[in-house]
Amino acid sequence: MSFNTIYLTLMSVRMAPRLPLIFLLMIHGVSSADWGVSYSPSHICALKTSSVIMSCTYTYPTGHQIMKMFWTNTKEIKDKHEESPDLSEDPEYSQRLQYLGDTQQNCTIRLSHVIQKDQHMYYFRFRTNIDQWIGKQGVTLTVTDLQVEAPERVTEGHNVHLTCKSSCTLTDRATFIWYRNSQPLTERRDRNNQLLLQSVRREDAGRYSCALHGHSYISPAAHLSVMYPPENPVIFISPSVIVEGDSVTLSCSSDSNPPALNFSWFKGGTFVGSGRNYNISNISSDHSGVYKCKSRNEHGEKYSDAVTLNIMFHPGADRNVTVITTTSGGLFIIIIIIIIIFINIINIIIIIWFIMKQRCVKTEDNRVKQICDPSEDTYTALELKSTTSDLYDTLTTVRPRPPEDS
Ligand SMILES: *[C@@H]1O[C@H](CO)[C@@H](O)[C@H](O)[C@H]1NC(C)=O
Ligand SMILES: *[C@@H]1O[C@H](CO)[C@@H](O)[C@H](O)[C@H]1NC(C)=O
Ligand SMILES: *[C@@H]1O[C@H](CO)[C@@H](O)[C@H](O)[C@H]1NC(C)=O
Ligand SMILES: *[C@@H]1O[C@H](CO)[C@@H](O)[C@H](O)[C@H]1NC(C)=O
Ligand SMILES: *[C@@H]1O[C@H](CO)[C@@H](O)[C@H](O)[C@H]1NC(C)=O
Repeated sequence: MSFNTIYLTLMSVRMAPRLPLIFLLMIHGVSSADWGVSYSPSHICALKTSSVIMSCTYTYPTGHQIMKMFWTNTKEIKDKHEESPDLSEDPEYSQRLQYLGDTQQNCTIRLSHVIQKDQHMYYFRFRTNIDQWIGKQGVTLTVTDLQVEAPERVTEGHNVHLTCKSSCTLTDRATFIWYRNSQPLTERRDRNNQLLLQSVRREDAGRYSCALHGHSYISPAAHLSVMYPPENPVIFISPSVIVEGDSVTLSCSSDSNPPALNFSWFKGGTFVGSGRNYNISNISSDHSGVYKCKSRNEHGEKYSDAVTLNIMFHPGADRNVTVITTTSGGLFIIIIIIIIIFINIINIIIIIWFIMKQRCVKTEDNRVKQICDPSEDTYTALELKSTTSDLYDTLTTVRPRPPEDS
């Protein structure tokens, strides 16, 4: 401001050296009031790839004519006769810069698809037929991306906050949206830029990213891992057909995060070994028994279902053969039996119903048929009475009639 005022004053002195001092002072006062550019806001925080509107107004003394106006990102010019580079002539900007203002007072521009390199101060400059404006004030543009801030791991059942971070407070206060494995989420948002996952489940694990509603930019994904104790360890036995003297491996497998590394083996409740595999070389009847494995990670431990190894003599074989049974198999058989009993009961009911129906059809006769229709129980009961009485009436009227022969 002061620079311009001085500059204008000096210019006035040069142009009108013979004018009285009082007149000079008057011009000075008018000039400082009439020249100016203001930016609102003067600081802009924009999301990468978004469009930015730099709102701007300017004034100049009445009577002046605008010769040139432009935006630049160069603050200093060494010589006042030298001009700052015009951004609309800069190939890096020309395609993305759009002047929205006018030639009276509005110098607003739009810069689209901002990139990190656009982070700068921007200045509006103009020149009239008499003088030019070289203001030191400008608009500061900060360009930010989005980063998901989340713990790498969370234990199942705990709550977790994910934050969508920007390096500056975004001028455009759009709502944040969240993605898990590229699918939009509808989970509760704590604050505008936070996602709250309550009582985390295994399915919540994945790659999380965030974005601003209405903007194409999506943050890099952050991976959230959900920790949980081993679940349903299972024993696998190989080979599947075991003959006495074979080498047999019992292998314990369980689902857990992180993967369980600590396994214990029990035979009939007694600890017999550790490690994912339990090897038996030269299996014999001594190895008959009930086996279980226990899988453990830092979040908990779990026992497998029991597996029973049974050495049985097969008359045809020269060696004893091992029979393997699992308790879950036993449970399965019980369920099957229950289902079979249930199906049989249903069958019996259907058969009884069918037999009843068949009988009704056999003795088909208007009156009897009505009795077989279950939906008209009460009605048919009444109907039965009336029809029977009718029948009796007929019989009574018929009975007294003497036989023709006699
Ligand atoms: C300047 O022009 C832009 C675009 O036409 C408009 O949105 C804005 O309101 C104008 N500003 C003023 C102060 O008139
Ligand atoms: C495995 O777990 C048992 C407790 O169940 C513990 O005593 C042992 O140190 C653990 N071993 C390893 C290798 O972590
Ligand atoms: C158990 O046997 C398997 C192959 O049958 C072998 O790879 C493994 O190293 C053995 N483990 C132990 C503890 O002996
Ligand atoms: C396997 O065990 C039987 C006794 O149970 C023994 O006679 C035989 O020599 C053993 N075989 C080997 C290879 O160790
Ligand atoms: C089979 O096992 C029984 C013990 O259960 C043992 O007495 C018998 O000798 C075994 N038979 C053979 C052929 O090894």
